[in-house]
Amino acid sequence: MASASTTPKKVLVIDDEDHMRLALRETLSRAGYDVVTAFDGANGLNKLTADSFDAVITDLRMPVMGGMEFLTKAQAAKPTIPIVLMTAYATVNTAVDAMKAGAFDYIMKPFSPEVIESTLERIFQYQSAAVSQPAATSSEETAKNALHDKSPAIITKNQRMQDLINLATDVASSSANVLVNGESGTGKELFARLIHYGGDRRNKNFVAVNCAALPDNLLESELFGYEKGAFTGAASRKIGKFELADGGTLLLDEITEMPVHLQAKLLRVLQEGEVDRLGGSRPIEVDVRIVATTNRDMQESIREKEFREDLFYRLNVIPLPIPPLRRRKEDIPMLVEHFIAKYNRKNRKNVSGVTREGMDALMAHEWHGNVRELENIIERAVVICRSETLTPGNLFLHGTLLDNPAPQASQSPVTSDATAPSATEGESPENSVFVEVGTSVHEMEKRLILQTLEKCSGNRKQAAEMLGITSRTLLNKIKEYRELGIHIE
Ligand SMILES: Nc1ncnc2c1ncn2[C@@H]1O[C@H](COP(=O)(O)OP(=O)(O)OP(=O)(O)O)[C@@H](O)[C@H]1O
Ligand SMILES: [Mg+2]
Repeated sequence: MASASTTPKKVLVIDDEDHMRLALRETLSRAGYDVVTAFDGANGLNKLTADSFDAVITDLRMPVMGGMEFLTKAQAAKPTIPIVLMTAYATVNTAVDAMKAGAFDYIMKPFSPEVIESTLERIFQYQSAAVSQPAATSSEETAKNALHDKSPAIITKNQRMQDLINLATDVASSSANVLVNGESGTGKELFARLIHYGGDRRNKNFVAVNCAALPDNLLESELFGYEKGAFTGAASRKIGKFELADGGTLLLDEITEMPVHLQAKLLRVLQEGEVDRLGGSRPIEVDVRIVATTNRDMQESIREKEFREDLFYRLNVIPLPIPPLRRRKEDIPMLVEHFIAKYNRKNRKNVSGVTREGMDALMAHEWHGNVRELENIIERAVVICRSETLTPGNLFLHGTLLDNPAPQASQSPVTSDATAPSATEGESPENSVFVEVGTSVHEMEKRLILQTLEKCSGNRKQAAEMLGITSRTLLNKIKEYRELGIHIE
């Protein structure tokens, strides 16, 4: 909210539609801003040069001087003025160009009053907090994100995500345990790192253990360590991850997959601040902050007695529920830009963006693999792209192709790329499991599991998700098949 104690900030609103100007004038006046309106870019430019403003909000598509032309001219006249563009879904690509050209941010229509208010608040926060920081880059990486070199940039323009980043940053310097809940690929580990590198523990270790990736006994010795001779094969002493993370942060990935007897041991560490090495004679003091992650419904795991309720309360001091990408699609253009830049650097390519059709396809996709899936798709597209912009043909969006093969196929240019998808992929042998009547359920299960693993290039987690089983169950099945002599990567 614009502060009442100082002179109200003056905002210029430019839109050719009467009702938009009216609605924005009402919303922003109520929030304490001094509002002036203009009906197109040319009219806006006149007003901008004749008076002094703190920010401009402009529509992108207007009959006389659109938002892009206005942006260029306004920047020439008043180089420091922060400009926010309002855009319809169809013009989101242009909005991304506008950001590159120096706009502060864009908001997608329709939007709620809170969205425009919080965007303006961000402008004025940056103006007062970071005078030296150019406004154009600040919307990509919030100032708080850049707390530390190793602190990751969490790219988002979603309000809910920004609230979570603020919460994570605020609790970083405490020792409170954090439970990060979200689907695979939503950025849970990024949050864990933000918490570690944003707090006082940053100079000690950040140690990550995936509770689903190891068989029970190995997980136990990984976490707690052992003394020489603690069991057959314990040829020397091993320091456990708790000790390694002493003074720092221990990330326990997929905590719900931790066997119940280890949950009891974990609870003891949390309550007493001590670990017992296997075969050790005395407990060792440790000071560890736990960030646990899960992609499961914890309440359900508790109900099914797979997860201890008392441990849940210990871990869930600060809950961070990360929304899936499909619930924050406004993040897609920004993430795409970020990943294109990343993979341009890595592959020495010079891809400048995505075609309108490409962006439409990305916006329409369901993203069950969330940001990781988007990153993979952009990486592949950048590698195979032979022109300046990524086309739908480069993007290889499984779901889209499988869901409606015909129209997509006609849109995609015919290429000789081995990686380019075929429209009939859904029926291709590698996507199907053939069973003859008479096959046992056990055999059918085996074939399905092996083929799914192959499809996921050996990624256990993704395969387990596709199969609708836990990673632990999948791991047990793999073990069983290996014992039958089947080679699994
Ligand atoms: N908001 C974001 N901005 C930039 N990169 C992101 C963002 N979210 C995720 N990523 C990237 O996507 C990938 C997956 O993120 P991360 O490993 O944190 O997900 P996760 O939720 O821990 O996944 P999993 O459940 O599979 O372990 C990483 O490469 C990460 O850098
Ligand atoms: Mg992770």
